[in-house]
Amino acid sequence: MATSLGIDSHPHSVLQTDYGDEIVRVGVIGYGYWGPNIVRNFHAQDRSRVVAVCDKSCKSLQRVRQAHPEIPVTQECRDLLEATDIDLVAIVTPVWTHYELAKAALENGKHVFVEKPITCTTAQAEDLIELAERKRLKIMVDHTFLFTGAVRRIRQLIDDGTLGELYYYDSTRVNLGLFQHDVNVIWDLAPHDLSIMDYLIKEKPEAVVATGERHLNGVADVAFLTLYYPNNMIGHINVNWLSPVKVRTTLIGGEKKMLVWNDLEADEKIKIYDKGVEMSGGDVYKLLVSYRSGDMWSPRVEQVEALKLEAAYFVECIVNNKQPFNDGAAGLHVVRMLEAADHSLQQKGKIVQL
Ligand SMILES: NC(=O)c1ccc[n+]([C@@H]2O[C@H](COP(=O)([O-])OP(=O)(O)OC[C@H]3O[C@@H](n4cnc5c(N)ncnc54)[C@H](O)[C@@H]3O)[C@@H](O)[C@H]2O)c1
Repeated sequence: MATSLGIDSHPHSVLQTDYGDEIVRVGVIGYGYWGPNIVRNFHAQDRSRVVAVCDKSCKSLQRVRQAHPEIPVTQECRDLLEATDIDLVAIVTPVWTHYELAKAALENGKHVFVEKPITCTTAQAEDLIELAERKRLKIMVDHTFLFTGAVRRIRQLIDDGTLGELYYYDSTRVNLGLFQHDVNVIWDLAPHDLSIMDYLIKEKPEAVVATGERHLNGVADVAFLTLYYPNNMIGHINVNWLSPVKVRTTLIGGEKKMLVWNDLEADEKIKIYDKGVEMSGGDVYKLLVSYRSGDMWSPRVEQVEALKLEAAYFVECIVNNKQPFNDGAAGLHVVRMLEAADHSLQQKGKIVQL
């Protein structure tokens, strides 16, 4: 039976801003490491309020009460999934729980904001997309990096032709931990790069090769992915939970310019190098190789918190009935690449077509 969480005395109450605009009422499931960021950002928007938080753990709920005493909490996710006074459910729980929770939210008429990766399998993601379409509801997957100033700036530099035709995308995303129990390092860290690559690169990859090894808890903790694109474009991702240092550096090589994105830099996150190689001359033995070594510059990168923009964007999509670009289909493509990477990993780097 549908219930009200007591956000207002009337179960179908509509919250409004001072200007009479409707406010999207958000319920958040999961208040572990990442959940507090989701609660804080949806709660601070003009057009949304977090009206309930659910976590199985009493300790997590205690943290919610301390940070947001005004928000009702519950340990029972059905309270939130079936509440009549919630429009959007944000799912910030471990990956293996995403499908069941998102499905229940959609079945109960709620829009869904779900953490990356959307689900554990492509079949589950397809199921959610179909259900959302049938119910005319929206799914948005939290591919947070797509809302960072750095990624949005790189997208501009690719779209306006500054880098020229792309040769490669090469990312290193390594640190010590955090060890996950339910997924390997590919499913934990590579969704960031895979979603960024999908966003930046117009073509889709045709095949993937993954190698890696497990050392401590039975799942791969060090892995290397290679993605083959049309036109000789190649992608490479190095993910590792056993690195002594944290590295978040991506090289993007283009025909005209080359770019280094160091996400750990406070300023000058992106550096563009006017460097390249040109070949001229006849056959392979008479080739003239000339190296171009021009200026380096660092474009300005907007510093607004990515989740703030992302939460505002999803609320706007709901209010204006627009499809978000990081929707269920975008999440599904990332899971397709992750599944293919797992198949390749199990066969010690066999090439898997996408
Ligand atoms: N977008 C990002 O940059 C980013 C960063 C970190 C984590 N994540 C994603 O966020 C999700 C959660 O990761 P985390 O690191 O916060 O995990 P976590 O283990 O720290 O927290 C998960 C919380 O969910 C609660 N929970 C689990 N199942 C539940 C259920 N059925 N009902 C209610 N509560 C439940 C747990 O008690 C825990 O408090 C994962 O999907 C992860 O991939 C995304």
